[in-house]
Amino acid sequence: MKVALVVGARPNFVKHAMVSRALRDKHQEILIHTGQHYDIQLNKIFFDQLEIVEPHYNLEIGSGTHAEQTGQMMIGTEKVLQKEKPDWILVYGDTNSTLAGALAAAKLNIPIAHVEAGLRAYNKQIPEEVNRVVTDYLSSLLFAPTETAVENLKKDNITAGVHNTGDVMYDAILHYKMVADKKSEIMTLLNLTPGEFIVSTIHRAETTDNPEKLRSVMTAFAQIDDPIIFPIHPRTKKALKTMNLSPLKGNHVKLIDPVGYLDMMMLLKNARLLITDSGGLQKEAYFLKTPCLTCLKEDEWPETTAAGANKLVSADTKKIVAFAKESYPAIKDADEFGDGHAAEKMVSFMEESIKT
Ligand code: UD1
Repeated sequence: MKVALVVGARPNFVKHAMVSRALRDKHQEILIHTGQHYDIQLNKIFFDQLEIVEPHYNLEIGSGTHAEQTGQMMIGTEKVLQKEKPDWILVYGDTNSTLAGALAAAKLNIPIAHVEAGLRAYNKQIPEEVNRVVTDYLSSLLFAPTETAVENLKKDNITAGVHNTGDVMYDAILHYKMVADKKSEIMTLLNLTPGEFIVSTIHRAETTDNPEKLRSVMTAFAQIDDPIIFPIHPRTKKALKTMNLSPLKGNHVKLIDPVGYLDMMMLLKNARLLITDSGGLQKEAYFLKTPCLTCLKEDEWPETTAAGANKLVSADTKKIVAFAKESYPAIKDADEFGDGHAAEKMVSFMEESIKT
């Protein structure tokens, strides 16, 4: 079986690391990197730490408006697909690279497998939501990470090819947890004591492109007493600069460059609390039993909120500050996200599907 896989941005790389491990011994893997993320801290560090095989094609598209970025990625991906003629294309999650890969393949009648299918925020103003809905609609195999995702697909009348495989990001945590313990030096480098700091990431367009929301979150940070470690995404850095925002005066907020996967897992595991607008980190915090405040209105991972591990605080200063002061009860095992073998199941479903 020959499978083309499309990656482009940070969250794709983590999922790909696990799928590639399950695929590459038995099958031919053609890795297409769109180049959506190109900074070392958002890109190369992930390939190195997660031991991902170098891409066969790098489209080097980089930044742009949504249409520019997606359009150029489609053109580049189409050329590769025409040349390679894979049996499958596999795309991850909800980034612009995901959508571009799916659209290019659909027009060439190449079947699409979608990893992390069925996620819904039910808000089409979120670019990721548009990417997910369209990709799900076009896919022949839909790998849902949870039962909730299967139900979401049912509501959209999508039932054929849907499988609850579990979540590859859960596979990744189980695989890399020990590696992070051994290799990450971030706790020592930043002189941190477990349980005595907060870690935060803010980067989603809904927050960074809305000055009011970004200001509101930064005001909350300034009012929280605990040390806050804040690895800052280039989009957020730019937005803060454009707004001339410097609410990070208190030296309890430590701005650092974006960190690699192993360091992030270490920070997350040892933090007292996570404050984020990232989809992926909400559930990684749950896997590592760290409470989370999510600065969004939409509940993208209802399993985490139902378990009491995650609270939606939108970009509300008062809520963020109040909930950051609370202490949280112990978090249960994350048993809604599969058994740690999601990637192997995905490969089996593609194999079976090709035989029939
Ligand atoms: C993308 C995904 C988002 C994911 C995130 C992880 C979409 C629509 N969004 O958002 O779902 O959670 O990746 O980080 O696909 N930039 C750099 N260096 C880079 C990459 C980007 O400086 O290596 C800057 C560019 O100026 C760009 C901005 O960051 O305009 C945003 O980058 P983009 O890839 O469009 O989206 P992300 O915010 O990273």
